[in-house]
Amino acid sequence: MCGIIGYVGKSSPKEILIEGLKSLEYRGYDSAGVALKNDKEVQIIKSVGKISNLEEKMNKESLIDSNLGIAHTRWATHGKPTEENAHPHQIGNITLVHNGIIENADELRKQLMVEGIIFNSDTDTEVAAALINKYYESNPIEAINKAIKEINGSYALGVLFKDSDKLYTTRKDSPLIVGIGEEENFIASDIAAIINYTNKYILLEEGEIAEITKDSITVTKNNKEIKKEILTTNMEADAKDKCGYDHYMLKEIMEEPIVLEKTFKPYLDNLNLLPDLTKYEEIHIVACGSAMYAGLIGSSLLEEYANTKVDVEVASEYRYKNVIYNRKTLVILISQSGETADTIAAMRKAKENNIDTLAIVNVKTSTIARESDQQIFIEAGPEIAVATTKAYILQAGILSLLAYKTAKDKKLVNDDKVVEEAKMLPRLLKEVLDRREDYLKIAKEIYNKEDMFFIGRKIDYAISMEGSLKLKEVSYIHSEAYQAGELKHGTISLIEEGLPVFAIITDEAIKDKTISNIEEVKSRGAKTIVVSNEEYEEQTLQITVPKISPFFQSILIVPTLQLIAYEVAKLRNCDIDKPKNLAKSVTVE
Ligand code: G6P
Repeated sequence: MCGIIGYVGKSSPKEILIEGLKSLEYRGYDSAGVALKNDKEVQIIKSVGKISNLEEKMNKESLIDSNLGIAHTRWATHGKPTEENAHPHQIGNITLVHNGIIENADELRKQLMVEGIIFNSDTDTEVAAALINKYYESNPIEAINKAIKEINGSYALGVLFKDSDKLYTTRKDSPLIVGIGEEENFIASDIAAIINYTNKYILLEEGEIAEITKDSITVTKNNKEIKKEILTTNMEADAKDKCGYDHYMLKEIMEEPIVLEKTFKPYLDNLNLLPDLTKYEEIHIVACGSAMYAGLIGSSLLEEYANTKVDVEVASEYRYKNVIYNRKTLVILISQSGETADTIAAMRKAKENNIDTLAIVNVKTSTIARESDQQIFIEAGPEIAVATTKAYILQAGILSLLAYKTAKDKKLVNDDKVVEEAKMLPRLLKEVLDRREDYLKIAKEIYNKEDMFFIGRKIDYAISMEGSLKLKEVSYIHSEAYQAGELKHGTISLIEEGLPVFAIITDEAIKDKTISNIEEVKSRGAKTIVVSNEEYEEQTLQITVPKISPFFQSILIVPTLQLIAYEVAKLRNCDIDKPKNLAKSVTVE
């Protein structure tokens, strides 16, 4: 995790670095720092907490004149979020920022201490600074080259050398781009951080080092110059605006109909643009967090309607377990960022075993997009709120379409109405989202509780998992998702007077069973909230969405739970876009 930005150019870097860090805050926000450099000195300012604290501190200090700087927002891995542990770190001639984890940091630190280095923080990053410093005589590239040969793990580095007016960078398994401006150049963990200045960038591969001035970017690998392709992003500068919404989370939920239409359009015009899954005997869906829960929607539909064997696995488990592959296994990786460390490792494991990989991914330049065999891109655009909403909907949406196509290819369904209903989905979803008053009403009933349950069966259980996670993430209310029929085997002992239980009912064939489970918890005092595609007279609190093909029903239900989570968090005054302890792009194990 952590976010990096660096600048060299015609302007003073303060605003550029601070605004850039704000765009990168989704990557971590427990402390932050900047280093500004001119030919006389390096000025470092650090602060604990959000970027706004750092900004305040910088406003109070007198800053040196400078055209070169690096900055960092941290999500602590090694050492507590203190000023000492915040980046930039400085040792000798070197000042640097780092994103990633240096796995052999302890070993290197011991060695360097024997050599007389004194460390001031608990971070692995300081070890990188010390190593580069050790090898620095007069050639920065040579020093970085020697240092990275000794470092195991992942890193994106932004490095300043005391007697150089250039910015240096290198990366391995952590995202970083070099942005190309006019009389100014940048480094950043994500193009969003510099989109106000340029949409042109280059991507560094492992072992490549960039030497950057305001007018030039020279990339070398093992001292040989490499010609890099200049890429362009079509991200709009205003994609980062809240557009009048109080929070990015709300803005992004409200964007769901538009991005769904954009993502579905080519496939609804021609379903055959989607990959053929019929040639596989089994599918492993591997992902983390909400992306994994989107996978559960896919597996439920693929098994139910396309008669396809699917296992859904958490990537952090999958990467280390003894996976039994069949020659006809397909591994589907789902990732908004395309940079989640565990999902990348799972993809590489499948590839090492010569297993086909298909990625469902949002960021087109990401590691997963580049290394997987096949890709389906969702068109979510930048998602800034830490808790995913629109990207999850698109992941679940694409899997639903894939399930339908596979069922059709296998001649298990023959209902062209499904495509027509998929075309109606954005409009229906907009209607569902526009009923914000209904969600606020439910939120007011439950926001002061400290425990909740979400129950459902089959696909409704998959929906429950995401509803429960969203609530936990943004409102800090303890919540659990349970298979409705399993509750009575122990967990029902936790049901007490007034405890909210959300019951999801969309699966026609099994709805009566879930209703019996609702009665069981009601009779023990639970306050039930039924979320369904039909009304139930005897239920007091309910949310009803339009009935649509079972392939797409979850796409109308989950957004209601996202909005309830949002309203609950707002009533509890939570920091909705940046919940405590979380980060959006989890690039560490
Ligand atoms: C983090 C985010 C989640 C996200 C998960 C996977 O935990 O907070 O919202 O679902 O990572 O991220 P990915 O980028 O791989 O979809």
